Amino acid sequence: MSPRVGTSKGPIPVVLDVDTGIDDALALLVAVRSVEIDLVGVGTVAGNVSAAVAARNTLRVLEVAGASSVPVAIGAARPLVEPPHEARWVHGEDGLGETNQPQPQRPPSDEDAVDQLLRLSQEHAGELVVVAVGPLTNLAIALTRDPSLADRLARIVLMGGSARSGGNRSAWAEANIACDPEAAELVFGCSVRRTMIGLDVTMQVKLEEADVQTLAQQDDAGGRFAAEILPFYLDAYASWTGERRCALHDPLAVAVVADPGLVTTYPLPTRIELHGHQTRGMTVVDLRALMRDDPANDVAVTDVALDVDVQAARSFVLRRLSGRSD
Ligand code: BDR
Ligand code: CA
Repeated sequence: MSPRVGTSKGPIPVVLDVDTGIDDALALLVAVRSVEIDLVGVGTVAGNVSAAVAARNTLRVLEVAGASSVPVAIGAARPLVEPPHEARWVHGEDGLGETNQPQPQRPPSDEDAVDQLLRLSQEHAGELVVVAVGPLTNLAIALTRDPSLADRLARIVLMGGSARSGGNRSAWAEANIACDPEAAELVFGCSVRRTMIGLDVTMQVKLEEADVQTLAQQDDAGGRFAAEILPFYLDAYASWTGERRCALHDPLAVAVVADPGLVTTYPLPTRIELHGHQTRGMTVVDLRALMRDDPANDVAVTDVALDVDVQAARSFVLRRLSGRSD
């Protein structure tokens, strides 16, 4: 993936769209600690928890990370068609591993997340990268409300979907896409260049107990915060997979913006299954395009990450969680 799509030099202006969530919290920490990224705003969406709880959690993470000036705007309270479907068994009743975090000291912005996205796209026209690590509801609403948004975005990097690795919400649907398939179909059909960081790569990059112990010993509030919220996530993975190792879904999407070489992507036509009884919310990736010499070149093509440098990605995320920007 090429992150430098615009013309100016310096850090890439990024707006994060989150449903914070334990791995969303890690993604926020990675974004704040990455010199390659200028985090210009965060929008929240209903997913792992409600959009309002996601905003509270986001404000808390940013406070811990010393990034209290980044605006946090609440977005869509529910998916376009599906009823809300929270994932509290994975992230805890509070979304942060039931760690009883204090209330953040500042409130969310008065602005809605969709308005914030549209405003930021004007202020950083041609440069703004949207990193969406929750359901794609806000982005779909923004693209519908103002179709010219597509011309102002440099790229969308999304955590979601699966090309050939099956699903986690259902046999073939990944949670973020399954939460709001109609929104995802709109985003996967828009004209903005986009990168899909799906289960094919995120399920390979994992943390385990020893990493949590290392983070807990850091002389860094962000690292210790990560160590505090991770045990609940490890337990959820243990009950699901039998292994106490958790995937770094959302942090990997942010890491790829800072270091595109962590993954290998392929331009592949990709759409969302909206009707299947067993497959609603599946990302239907046309892998036949891998066999063609000339890459498919239509609006439905997404740069799909199929390979990841596991050690480099793990080490990148761990360094940033520990407060290191190298
Ligand atoms: C995605 O689903 C959510 O539970 C996680 O935060 C991540 O964004 C993984 O499928
Ligand atoms: Ca998420």
